[in-house]
Amino acid sequence: MRYRSQQVAYWYFAVAMALFGLQIAFGLLSAAKYLGPDPLLYILPFDVTKMIHTNLLIVWVLTGFMGATYWLVPEESQTELHSVKLAYVQLILWVAMGLTAVIGYLFRFGTGNKLLEQPLPHKLVIVAVMLLFLYNVGMTIWKSRRFTTTEGVLLLGLGGAAVLFLPALLPFDNYTVSIFYRWWTIHLWVEGVWEMVQGSFLAYLLIRLSGADREVMEKWLYVIVGLVFIAGILGTAHHYYWVGVPQYWLPIGGFFSALEPLALVGMAMYAYFAMRRSGLAHPNTLAIHWTIGSAVFTLFGAGLLGLAHTWPSVNKWTHGTLITAMHGHAAFFGAYVMIVLAMITYAMPAMSRHRPERGTSVGYFAFWLQMAGMFGMTISFATAGIAQVYLERILGLGFLDTQLKIQVHFLMLIITGSVFAVGVALFIYDFFRHAPTFDAISEADAEAARARSRAARPAAA
Ligand code: HEM
Ligand code: HEM
Ligand SMILES: [Fe+2]
Repeated sequence: MRYRSQQVAYWYFAVAMALFGLQIAFGLLSAAKYLGPDPLLYILPFDVTKMIHTNLLIVWVLTGFMGATYWLVPEESQTELHSVKLAYVQLILWVAMGLTAVIGYLFRFGTGNKLLEQPLPHKLVIVAVMLLFLYNVGMTIWKSRRFTTTEGVLLLGLGGAAVLFLPALLPFDNYTVSIFYRWWTIHLWVEGVWEMVQGSFLAYLLIRLSGADREVMEKWLYVIVGLVFIAGILGTAHHYYWVGVPQYWLPIGGFFSALEPLALVGMAMYAYFAMRRSGLAHPNTLAIHWTIGSAVFTLFGAGLLGLAHTWPSVNKWTHGTLITAMHGHAAFFGAYVMIVLAMITYAMPAMSRHRPERGTSVGYFAFWLQMAGMFGMTISFATAGIAQVYLERILGLGFLDTQLKIQVHFLMLIITGSVFAVGVALFIYDFFRHAPTFDAISEADAEAARARSRAARPAAA
């Protein structure tokens, strides 16, 4: 760790880990309800467990983004954070918001707008937290007078995420209008500004892990941002097919959203070429796994599986089915879970003295079990979704009759989900098993330690 204030990141990561664990518990609980019987039906029904599952996801991933930003900005701008105290105040407010929102959901407080169910006071705290965060990061950069392209794209992403949350604050009586604007937040987050956050973390990691030229790496960022803007904004219309808006949205949504995977192909190529040029020489090979893994899994989950149902002629059958859940899981995992885990894996050896830089075998098990588990879950949702579309939408069977006929896929989901959960548990264990030590060391010392570690590697590696 080069700057003492980077230790703020550790506490954000620790909170993210705890909430990640809780998110997965609620995911498994939701999946168990597909199979039944459900003894918790009247205490904790499916809609509540699913809402807690998805809200925890958003909260912990954003906590990870914040922690990773507090790690990255001091290094990029070569300075201490503007205010460590403010960063902790922000974290406390944020955790209090997240936990009270979840407890509130248990008692049915929520607005019912999917993924944006937080009651208004919680939404206002979210806005306040984002403002504090952007202020702290902005002041750090401003005072240092060093502003890199990576930081620029990161700020564009985080600032965009804050601005795009504003439509979520407005109440609408008309359901169509409400859904119309909901996508300004949800779609433009995951297929717009969050991709910029992912792109900038990817640039940061690739520059460090591959030793590739900053100029070359950052040029790619412009390409990615450009493609995200061209395709992502009008691509929002792939959610406007069946919600009561005029028909011209059909061709607009189909065409522009079909272009969206281009940015993801760009990101995957970017990662591949950077690593090929460097020969994967950085000692932290576990962070390399998560980094390249994120680029590749995003191309699969978001690019390929997004494209699979983005045309109106396909989406008219698959809309709102388990096909959506198939894509939602693989895309979110590849793009946002994996990039946060990559940043954590990269940063952690510098924050705990006894942690080996190249990762532990527990860390590799955590990686591969999550990969295998998530791939299996994706296939389970996909096979369940195909059967569901056929039985329910084509043959016209009732929703619940269909659910009974696809139980075998739900069983598969629980088995593969359990494999995934073991991977998550191992990651969390690996995170917490070394107590943090926050020694600030110079870049020269860090490089010397890395060189020693490279020299100590077995020749075959
Ligand atoms: C990292 C990027 C992405 C993430 C995290 C993501 C995640 C999600 C999630 C969570 C949903 C469900 C939203 C809801 O119903 O509230 C969704 C829906 C959808 N996504 Fe993505 N997505 C990504 C990229 C893409 C891309 C690139 C495409 C197209 C090429 C795409 C196509 C779709 C479509 C068509 C739906 C609507 C499904 C329906 O009608 O039920 N997604 N996505
Ligand atoms: C053991 C692991 C997990 C299990 C068993 C699980 C299970 C579930 C279930 C049953 C649903 C409800 C789908 C429906 O509406 O019918 C769901 C929704 C969702 N989960 Fe998970 N989940 C797990 C992990 C994750 C992870 C790691 C992520 C993020 C990468 C995630 C993201 C989501 C999202 C975005 C939705 C909403 C999808 C949609 O709108 O269709 N889940 N999950
Ligand atoms: Fe979308």
